[in-house]
Amino acid sequence: MTAIPRRTRRTERPTPVLPTLPDDFAVRVIAWQQRYGRHHLPWQNTGDAYRTWLSEIMLQQTQVSAVLGYYARFIERFPTVQALAAAPADDVMAAWAGLGYYTRARNLHRCAQIVVAEHGGVFPRDPDVLTTLPGIGRSTAAAIAAFSYGVRAAILDGNVKRVFARAFGIDGFPGDKPVEETMWRIAEAVLPPAGGIQPYTQGLMDLGATVCTRGRPACLTGERACPLESLCEARRTDRVMELPLPRPRKAVPERAATVMMALHDHAVLLHRRPQRGIWGGLWSLPLVGDMDDALNAHPKDAATVRDAAQTYGTVGAVEPAGELTHTFTHFRLHMHLLRVDMTEPAALEDDWRWVSLTQLGTVGLPAPVKLALETLLQPSLV
Ligand code: ADE
Repeated sequence: MTAIPRRTRRTERPTPVLPTLPDDFAVRVIAWQQRYGRHHLPWQNTGDAYRTWLSEIMLQQTQVSAVLGYYARFIERFPTVQALAAAPADDVMAAWAGLGYYTRARNLHRCAQIVVAEHGGVFPRDPDVLTTLPGIGRSTAAAIAAFSYGVRAAILDGNVKRVFARAFGIDGFPGDKPVEETMWRIAEAVLPPAGGIQPYTQGLMDLGATVCTRGRPACLTGERACPLESLCEARRTDRVMELPLPRPRKAVPERAATVMMALHDHAVLLHRRPQRGIWGGLWSLPLVGDMDDALNAHPKDAATVRDAAQTYGTVGAVEPAGELTHTFTHFRLHMHLLRVDMTEPAALEDDWRWVSLTQLGTVGLPAPVKLALETLLQPSLV
């Protein structure tokens, strides 16, 4: 049996190579955090894993400014993990109302109950154990372990991905598995010794939220200094606003058609397209194979075109005249341009006519057809 070659799936893009990493990445982040970072958030330096965990869950997909009031009310209403675990679900949901992403609240409640029932009311310190709890992914687990217990663990949330993509010039959509894997390897490789993990983790978060922002990065606005600017690959190559790369668009189907410019006596043959479909009702150069041909199945040899052209008269020279590509919403059309000299035109059916080259400007042609004509007419005939 012949093996059918598997098509490469979008998810199978190659893993980006690990860039050379600077030795002083963490040192810079820590020094910056100590001077410019956030130090007075209510959940900081409490030494209370319950408060750290609660804040980290609230801060998933939500900015600090939106979280502050909710956090204060939550802590007042549920001061301990035991209080939260014992509360009716409705009370928890009511306290969360307005923060959004309500799965977080349901997971929060379940997580509190598991911590009480299975961990003696103490949040585990091992990030791998933390990730087994509802609502705690790898990055959140690392943040909880680092902030609560000083565990040397790497975070990688959306803001950190942006900082890494720019600082290290990572070419790829961070939501792609291979790109994300590379970023995790970077995140692990640039960690400071355990002693610096708290200011480092907070510093990375603060940098992403206040300096290396998506829309107004400080290196471009000049509003603040960035501690990574002198090592930043995106800054060096002027790609700060380009990185991280967005989600790749779905591949558009590739189609092909031959665009025929039949010439006779300084006139060109035009065809009115059917009312329905692309360029409906507009005049166009005739297409051999229309736009339905898949790229590989397309007949672009001169003999096929000569056969097609014979419908319109006696065919003289047939010459290839280049290629053009036009992207429609749903497909990309590769146009093979051919120039056909007609020695004797035949009688034409409705929706076909010869148009003098001097009159072409008066016919409303679709833009790609106009471009094809301009290409075909260069340079001898214009
Ligand atoms: N985003 C997620 N966790 C955060 C934290 N601890 N401080 C500031 N922003 C955050």
